[in-house]
Amino acid sequence: MSRNDPVGPSRPAYSGCCARPAPRHPADRPAVEAICIATGDDGRDARGLQAHPELLAHLWASPHLIADPALATIVEDPHGPAGYLVATADTLDFERWCEQHWWPAVRRQYPLDEAWGDRDRALVELVHAPEVSPASLAAAYPAHLHINLLPRAQGAGLGRVLIERLLTQLRLRGVAGVHLGVSRTNARAIGFYEHLGFERHSVEADGGLIMTRRV
Ligand SMILES: CC(C)(COP(=O)(O)OP(=O)(O)OC[C@H]1O[C@@H](n2cnc3c(N)ncnc32)[C@H](O)[C@@H]1OP(=O)(O)O)[C@@H](O)C(=O)NCCC(=O)NCCS
Repeated sequence: MSRNDPVGPSRPAYSGCCARPAPRHPADRPAVEAICIATGDDGRDARGLQAHPELLAHLWASPHLIADPALATIVEDPHGPAGYLVATADTLDFERWCEQHWWPAVRRQYPLDEAWGDRDRALVELVHAPEVSPASLAAAYPAHLHINLLPRAQGAGLGRVLIERLLTQLRLRGVAGVHLGVSRTNARAIGFYEHLGFERHSVEADGGLIMTRRV
């Protein structure tokens, strides 16, 4: 266990696998982005659905890994990185950080006035006008998370390990609650979150479901 990581790495019951802290960004970034894309369509591979699936990672994985790597956990098995959890403890602070340090470069890379396909355009528009968390949600549930495991790592207890590790970290930081957004068509993930104590909180303008849990 590292002195900087009071929670320490976890070894779930999955052959040859470990869930380790991710202080190695930017080395971890390509693997996190690849896993985000490979599971980006409600757990299925998002490659082939759009020309720029990397936008999924620009929106929902990479900035979290960079802004607070201590809250990220990488799952590794003998074949390499197989999953991750990324999170922020303070969503409003994270949104400010993104405006200053993340979105400017991504916006230059994906200008609004290019001829994007429909799926890409929807994400490029989010890059230029990111979702802003309602103040009441961020006050009661300041943290938020994203978790994605490749199919070979699913169903073996790793999701629970990653969520419980994050909850311990948030408790140590004195954070009261955590929220997440999930597509309403991702029934498997919704069932998983509910099983781990998350509740349905509200539906976003784009139809996404917000779920919350006290820490
Ligand atoms: C959703 C996901 C994170 C779940 O992780 P997982 O490792 O497959 O889940 P686990 O094996 O850790 O399951 C933990 C517990 O939840 C239960 N569970 C899992 N899915 C469930 C479901 N759909 N309904 C009810 N319970 C469920 C398990 O039975 C297990 O119960 P137990 O610990 O009490 O025995 C993972 O499957 C995944 O990454 N999917 C693809 C990407 C994705 O959809 N991410 C979410 C985007 S919002």
